[in-house]
Amino acid sequence: MAVRFPDSPGTRGFFAPTRFEAALRDCVVEGAIPKGLEGAFYRVGPNRVYPPRYPDDIPYNGDGMASVFRIADGRVDYAQRYIETERYRLERAAGRALFGRYRNRATNDPAVPATASLGTANTHIVWRDGMLLALKEDSPPVRLDPETLDTLDARWDFDGQLDAATFTAHPKIDADTGDLVAFAYEAKGDAGRDIAVMSFDRAGTKTWEAWIEAPYVSMMHDMAATPSWVLIPTTGLTTSAERLASGALHWAYDPSLEIHLGVVPRGGRSGDARWIKAPKCNAVHTIAATERPDGTLVLDCQASDGNPIPSFPNVDGTPADLAGSESTLRRWIVDLEGEGTIRQEPLAPAIKSALPRIDDRYLFRGYRWGYSTESGLRSATPYNAAAAEALKTASSAFARFDAETGAVVTAGIGPGRNAAELVFAPRGPDASEGEGWLMAVASDFAAMRSELVIADAARLEDGVIARVVLPFRAHLQVHGSWVPRWESDAV
Ligand SMILES: [Fe+2]
Repeated sequence: MAVRFPDSPGTRGFFAPTRFEAALRDCVVEGAIPKGLEGAFYRVGPNRVYPPRYPDDIPYNGDGMASVFRIADGRVDYAQRYIETERYRLERAAGRALFGRYRNRATNDPAVPATASLGTANTHIVWRDGMLLALKEDSPPVRLDPETLDTLDARWDFDGQLDAATFTAHPKIDADTGDLVAFAYEAKGDAGRDIAVMSFDRAGTKTWEAWIEAPYVSMMHDMAATPSWVLIPTTGLTTSAERLASGALHWAYDPSLEIHLGVVPRGGRSGDARWIKAPKCNAVHTIAATERPDGTLVLDCQASDGNPIPSFPNVDGTPADLAGSESTLRRWIVDLEGEGTIRQEPLAPAIKSALPRIDDRYLFRGYRWGYSTESGLRSATPYNAAAAEALKTASSAFARFDAETGAVVTAGIGPGRNAAELVFAPRGPDASEGEGWLMAVASDFAAMRSELVIADAARLEDGVIARVVLPFRAHLQVHGSWVPRWESDAV
C-alpha cells in the first residue's frame, strides 16, 4: 500500500513526519562549544512511521524517535533512531498503521493482539545509572542502549519488579541518595482509578510500593517528591470506559471536576495517602517540591486555568478554550494540618508559555534557579497552517528565574527560531547551583532545519554562545535529559 499522509495541520510543513534515522559525525558548529561541556543530550518525541488510521488523531500519538547530541572536546555527533516499541514492530511488519486513536484500544485494527502495549515511548527519556529509559505514561518503560539507541527491551519491567501496567514519564531521581521515585496511573487497566507509587534504590531494587485510588480518573502527567513525600496532582482531563468504547480520543476536559493533590508519605501504606483539595487549575508539570521547617510543603509547578492540552476536546464535545490553556508558573503551599489546605501564589509571572526545568541535582535539595524556554507562540496555540507561518518570524528565548525573588532574565535565541524544552548541564560534578549551560533544540522555520542552541546559564546576557546546525529537520521533541560524561563513558 502506498504511504500517503493526510494533508492536515499536524502532518504538514515543519510538522510533516521525517521518518528517517540518521547519524552525523562532526556536526557544523557556529560559535564555540564551551570547554568542559561534555556529555549527551538525549531527546524523544513523535515521528509517525505510517499515516494514522484516523485523520483526526493527534500528533502525540506518533511513534517515538530518540536522538542524541554527543558532545566532547568541542565536537558534536548527532544520531536519531526509532524506538522499536511493540507497536512499532507490529506496524512495520504490517506496512501500515494498526493502532487507532490516541490511547484507545477499541479503535485498533483487529490484528492487534489484546495484550499489545499501546506505548509509543515518545514523551521522556531518562538516564538511570547506566540505563536509558524511553517513557510514555500509558505503558512500561522501553530500555535503550545509551551508545547505539538500539531498543534493548520493548517492555522493561525493572527485572520483573514492575507490577503496574503503566509507568509515569516523569519519575524523579534523588541525586544524593540514588533513589528513583515514580508512580503509575490507570495502573491496573484503562479508565481505572488505581495508582501505584513506588521507589527503587540505586542498585535498582524496588524498596517501596503502595497502591492507592484516585478520586476520579484523570491525566496525571507529572509528580514531585521530597525526602519524605510524594505529590501527585490530578487534572481536569478525564476518561471513562464508556468514552473509550465510543471510539473517542482517550481524554476530554471536564471543567466541573475538582482538582486534588495526592499526598503520599514515602514508605507509607495505601491508607496513608490523602487527597487535598487543590486550586482550580491543571498542573501538568512540576518544577520541584520542598519541605519547610514549619511542616508545610511547597510545590512549584506549571499550570493552566483551563484545558491544558487543547488537542483534547471538552467532555461536551466542544473544542478546547485556548485562552484557558495558557500556562504560567505557580507555587502551591501545602498545609497538611487537619483536612489540609493549599494556597497558590504566582511564581515568576513574567514567564509565559513555560516548560520549566532546573538543575536536576537539586530536585530533592531545594532549588533557587529555574529555567524555561519561552515559546515564540503561546503554548496553547495549535499546530496549524497559521501557526506554522507565524513561527517563521516569531522568536523564542531562554529564561532564567529566581525562585526566591521571581526575577526573570531572558536571552533571545535568534529570529525565526522556536525552541523545544531546554535542559541544564552543570559545569562540573561539584559545581554550585546555577553554574552551567542551557541547551535546547530550536526549529528554524524559515530554513526548515533544526539546530542545538547553547547559552551560559549564569551569563544569559551573552546570548547564544554556540549553535550546532543540522542540515535537516530533527523530529519533534517532547522532553529530554542531559547526561554528563562524568556519569558514564557510555554517553
Ligand atoms: Fe511532560
